[in-house]
Amino acid sequence: MQDSHSFDPIAARDAEQSLNPNLENKLRPLRFNDFTGQEKTVERLQIMVGATRARDDILSHILLSGPPGLGKTTLASIIANELEKNIRITSGPVLEKPSDLAGILTNLERGDILFIDEIHRISKVVEEYLYSAMEDFVIDILIDQGPNARSIRLEIPRFTLIGATTRVGSLTAPLRSRFTLQTRLDHYDREHLKSIVNRSCGLLEIEVHDEGAHEIAKRARGTPRIANNLIQFVRDYSEQRGDGIITQNTAQQALELLEIDQHGLDEMDKRILKLIAANYRGGPVGINTIAVAVGEEAQTLEDVHEPYLIQEGYLQRTSQGRKLTDKAWQVLGLKPVIGESDNPLGI
Ligand SMILES: Nc1ncnc2c1ncn2[C@@H]1O[C@H](COP(=O)(O)OP(=O)(O)OP(=O)(O)O)[C@@H](O)[C@H]1O
Ligand SMILES: [Mg+2]
Repeated sequence: MQDSHSFDPIAARDAEQSLNPNLENKLRPLRFNDFTGQEKTVERLQIMVGATRARDDILSHILLSGPPGLGKTTLASIIANELEKNIRITSGPVLEKPSDLAGILTNLERGDILFIDEIHRISKVVEEYLYSAMEDFVIDILIDQGPNARSIRLEIPRFTLIGATTRVGSLTAPLRSRFTLQTRLDHYDREHLKSIVNRSCGLLEIEVHDEGAHEIAKRARGTPRIANNLIQFVRDYSEQRGDGIITQNTAQQALELLEIDQHGLDEMDKRILKLIAANYRGGPVGINTIAVAVGEEAQTLEDVHEPYLIQEGYLQRTSQGRKLTDKAWQVLGLKPVIGESDNPLGI
């Protein structure tokens, strides 16, 4: 089946942001102990993995959701490492036909992890096959066509499906309900990001001052992948313009040269805030209206941009729509416009 999305803004954004693969491998935490932050999710996973190991059982299916670059793929590989099982990585759009899925499933060994990234983009037919695979560890394959068509039941090794999605809302209810644990990753706070920056610098043998790490953490939009990307440019800058050490100064200058916003907001974040300020007097305004105006899918705004803007206190979600906070007006360097709703007498 053809994928209905011809252009996927998340995939495009990821491609833009992806680190070079060697570096990505070097920096990716391999054990729960190397993984900073996301305490609740990590604790839930550790409990399940610990119990599975102790019983020599098969881990139940897990759904990881959350914005890009926060560590979904990383956690899936950590789980496999901790269980000492193989991980097979694929993604929703790649699994076009049931035979694509059958090929993978029949090649798994007992207890292996199948990681399906962007699982919300899996095709309808493949999804139906996944149900029986997840529940009963069987797949019914249709052989021949027309009057000779018959289906044979194929047993597959008991496995664990780890699904990852930036859009948990786009998953069908039957698929979602087949995951024993559904857990969401949120953006990282400054302190956690700072320790990630320090860890990455350590692995790359880069000397970094505490204030330097702080500068990078501040502007990484709560996202480890962005932090790791910024480190590379700041390192280059520090080597070219300084003595190779990442200090507060070199970090600040490098990030200014990249025109990275000092609040860690990206272009789309800023466009959203500016639009609500300029055209809607700070809101409230509906997400679909914002989406049309900034030329982005409403889903992407909800899954990628809004969580960070809300978490950082720039945006409020109200029953009438999205509203700017005072902090947002400050960042925009504008004065809040008193909206009609705040001024019911119209004076
Ligand atoms: N908690 C963490 N500690 C240290 N590094 C991390 C952490 N989380 C993520 N990273 C680093 O950030 C990068 C991105 O993580 P990952 O690829 O797992 O994100 P993702 O959630 O799968 O993103 P996407 O939705 O785009 O696939 C990885 O290179 C990894 O090294
Ligand atoms: Mg990933």
